[in-house]
Amino acid sequence: MKKIVVLGKNGQVASALKRTQPESFGVVYLGRDDADFENKNQVLDKLQSLQPQIIINAVAYTAVDKAEEEKLKCYKINTETPGYISKWCQKNKAIFIQYSTDYVFDGQKEGLYNEVDLTNPLSVYGKSKRDAEALILQENPSSYIFRTSWVYDESGKNFLNTMIKLADKDELKIVTDQTGSPTYALDIASATWRILKSDKFGLSFGIYHMVSQGRTTWINFAEEIFEQIADRYPKTPKLSPILTKEYQTAAQRPLNSQLDTTKLYETFGVQLPYWKDSLKVCLKNKFF
Ligand SMILES: NC(=O)c1ccc[n+]([C@@H]2O[C@H](COP(=O)([O-])OP(=O)(O)OC[C@H]3O[C@@H](n4cnc5c(N)ncnc54)[C@H](OP(=O)(O)O)[C@@H]3O)[C@@H](O)[C@H]2O)c1
Repeated sequence: MKKIVVLGKNGQVASALKRTQPESFGVVYLGRDDADFENKNQVLDKLQSLQPQIIINAVAYTAVDKAEEEKLKCYKINTETPGYISKWCQKNKAIFIQYSTDYVFDGQKEGLYNEVDLTNPLSVYGKSKRDAEALILQENPSSYIFRTSWVYDESGKNFLNTMIKLADKDELKIVTDQTGSPTYALDIASATWRILKSDKFGLSFGIYHMVSQGRTTWINFAEEIFEQIADRYPKTPKLSPILTKEYQTAAQRPLNSQLDTTKLYETFGVQLPYWKDSLKVCLKNKFF
């Protein structure tokens, strides 16, 4: 059995990896106390003592707006430390799996982005993740980068939980001109395990897009959430559309976040479910 380390324990994707982990895999989950990404030596010492053959990195600095002020911290966690881990993997013949983001793109393309499209991040967070992709693949070509988008889970800080928290408001202004795929952390985790089990795993390294099927806007995502929780929250807020340019945030977001997942399907036979179906599953898991 291969020795696997998941970096991250309590984040959306890390906790979903734990919940979906096949029994046949032996996995060690390392939280911030075991391996603080701001302390490179602690992380590398931990890897040295555990000697994993596969490392899945679910740690990230994900506070996209705060990253504009905390650039160095964001770079350390999202770029530098993953770079060192990748180098460790290269020396120790381990495979590195990293999650990345739709925010590596500027959103100016019409239609779906594929893996070879030029990146041009608009934010510090996006740049830190884009630079991590390049650094990781440079240090250890035996790496997988799974780009995902608009991640939500039953708990954690995400759009779904924000909408549920605000369900008693009379009106909410929601952005209408950003398009992407809301993606359930549990689907990312299940897809990751399926890839690890696949006989293609260990071949065809590189970047893959890993998001739900189907695409929507934030306002339509909110509409769908309120429709699906109508039994519990019958009084839904009025949803008023606003444009990205009217909604001031420190970090700029891409208008088009649509990622083409053909490569993932053609390589591993793995496809995430349709986003509305996954939302149903997530709400069922959350409330029952
Ligand atoms: N969230 C999204 O919408 C989104 C979209 C696209 C791509 N992604 C990517 O998907 C991956 C997983 O994201 P997620 O949504 O699961 O993120 P998340 O819920 O914000 O979790 C991030 C994890 O990183 C840990 N962490 C942060 N700083 C750390 C440090 N210095 N040392 C050790 N651990 C640290 C956090 O630990 P604590 O629990 O101790 O704080 C947390 O467990 C990331 O690579 C992210 O860039 C996310």
